[in-house]
Amino acid sequence: MVVDGRPVAAIAEERLNRVKYYARFPGAAIRQCLEIAGLSFDDIDAVAVGRDPVANRRQKVAYAVRNPKRLLNFLRLRRSRNALDDLKGQIARECDIDPEKLRFQQYDVEHHVAHTASAYFISDWERAAGFTLDGSGDFVTCMMSECEGSQITPRRRIFIPHSLGSLYTMICEFIGYDKYGDEGKVMGLAPLGTDTYHDEFDRMVELTSGGFRLGLDYFLPLGSHGGLRISETGEMVLNRHYSDRIVERFGAPRVRHSEIAKRDMDLAFGLQRVFEDAYMHLLNILHALVPETRIAMAGGCVLNSVANGKLFDYTPFSQTCIQPASGDEGLALGAALHVSNAVLREGKRFVMRDAYLGQEFSESAIRKELDSAGVRYERYDRGPLLRAVVDDLVEGRVVGWFQGRSEWGPRALGNRSILAHPGFPGMKDILNARIKHREAFRPFAPSVLQERQSELFEHSHPSPFMLHVYKIRPEWRARLSAVNHVDDTGRLQTVAREENPLYYDLIEAFDARTGIPVILNTSFNENEPIVNTPAEAIDCFRRTKMDVLGIGPFVCRKTAQ
Ligand SMILES: [Fe+2]
Repeated sequence: MVVDGRPVAAIAEERLNRVKYYARFPGAAIRQCLEIAGLSFDDIDAVAVGRDPVANRRQKVAYAVRNPKRLLNFLRLRRSRNALDDLKGQIARECDIDPEKLRFQQYDVEHHVAHTASAYFISDWERAAGFTLDGSGDFVTCMMSECEGSQITPRRRIFIPHSLGSLYTMICEFIGYDKYGDEGKVMGLAPLGTDTYHDEFDRMVELTSGGFRLGLDYFLPLGSHGGLRISETGEMVLNRHYSDRIVERFGAPRVRHSEIAKRDMDLAFGLQRVFEDAYMHLLNILHALVPETRIAMAGGCVLNSVANGKLFDYTPFSQTCIQPASGDEGLALGAALHVSNAVLREGKRFVMRDAYLGQEFSESAIRKELDSAGVRYERYDRGPLLRAVVDDLVEGRVVGWFQGRSEWGPRALGNRSILAHPGFPGMKDILNARIKHREAFRPFAPSVLQERQSELFEHSHPSPFMLHVYKIRPEWRARLSAVNHVDDTGRLQTVAREENPLYYDLIEAFDARTGIPVILNTSFNENEPIVNTPAEAIDCFRRTKMDVLGIGPFVCRKTAQ
C-alpha cells in the first residue's frame, strides 16, 4: 500500500493465513494493508500488478512453437493468469465488497521491471545499474537495466529456458530439497562439500558474451511457468526439474530427510560455485552496459547472500541496494513504486531505511492475549525490560522477542525474532534441537551494531536486511561460535539505531555486559511462517522449549509457570 509515493503497509498473505509461500489471491493481505493505512476500497486510485501478459510475447510464441508438447501447458497457463485481467471482479468477490466501490485504474508492470523498481525506488540514488535474477517471470529470468531519475530502462533480458534460478532449484530437488524455498538451505550446505564436480557444472552453465546458456539436456523442459504449479490450497509445488542425464551421472536422487551423503554436499558446493561464477559474470556484463558503481538488485536469486558478500571483490560495484522482499512477494511493492515514480510521476521518491511495514499490536491487545492464554507475565519499563532480557541472554536462555511492526520480506530483523547469546557454548545445537527442529549444519545469523561491523567482519558494507555473508575476523570466531558457519562466515544483519532503536539498545546493553556487540537472531517460528500476532507468538513460546518471551513491555518465563 503506497500513499503519496510512500509505502505505508506491506504484508505477505502467508503471515495472515499461515500457509507458507501462499500463492493464490492475497485477500487477507489487501484487507490488512487497508486497515493499517486507515483507508477503504474506494480510496484506491491505482492497483499495480507485477506481471504483464503482453510483455515478451514474441519470445513466448517462438518458444511455444519450438516446443509443441509445451504449447498446451502454455495456453492453459495463459488462461489461468488471465483471471487477473478481471481484477475488479476478483477483488469484489474475494474481499466481499460492492464492485461499484472500486474506481481504481489497473497498471500491469513487467515482472522484472517490478523487481528492479522494488530495489531502485527504495534507494536515494539518482543513477544506478539495475539487476534482477530469478526462476522466471513474464518469460524472463534475468534483466539488466539502466536506472536514472524516475525511469528504469531495460538494456538486456535473458529468457526461458536459460535460468539460474531453475538450475539452483533443479540441483536442490535432486539432493532432496524439493520444497519451494529450500534453496537457502542448500546454500548453507555448500561449504561442507568439495569441488568434485567442477567440470560437470561447467557443462550445465556455459558463460557467453551476452550472459549464459544452460546445458538443457540436464533439465526436463519446464514450460513457460518455470516448473512450478500452485496447489488447490495455494502452496507452491515444484515439478521435477532434473532430467535422466542427472540420474545417470550422479546416481539416484536423495530422498528428503534421509542422510546427506558426501555426494550431496559436493553437488551443493558445485552448484554454489557455478552460480557465483555466473553471478559475477552477469554483473560484469551489466557494468559494461551501465558503468555505475551502485547497483539495485532484486529477484529470488538475489537472496543468495553468499554471492552478494563476494560481489565487491569480483565486480566494479561498490554499493548495493537490495530489496528485502526479493522473492515474488516483493513484486507488489515494486509494481506500486514503479507506477508512482515512473508512470504517474508523482515525484515523491521514498528511501527504505527499515523493513517494518507489517502489523503492530497495542499494549492492551497484547495483555488481553496473555490473559486469555493464562500465561504469567511481568510488565517492565523500557530500561528494566532491556536489562532483564540481557540477564536471560547472558545466562544462555532462549528468548522470543516480539516488538513493534512485523518485518516485510523473508527475514526476521529483530521484531519477530528468537534471540540468543551468540557465543554461549552449544547454543547452536540447543536452538536446533529444542526450537527450530532443523538440520545441524544450518547457520544462525548475527545481528551486529552497525558501528562495530568492521571490527568483527571482514567487510564494512552494511546489510540492514540480512542479505550479505561476510567472513568473521579470526579473533572473533570463538566468541561468536553459534553464528560462525563452517567456513567462518556469518549472514549478518547490521542494526542502526535509527532503524530499530529498541533492538539496537538491546544489543548495546548485551555488549555492555559481555563485550560482544552481537545477538544471535533467528526467525520467530517453528516450521511455519514467521509469527505475526501476539496469539501466534504465545502459542509458539508454549509449544517449543523457548525459555523466555519478551512481548511488548511484558516478559513471560517458563520457570515462573
Ligand atoms: Fe520473480
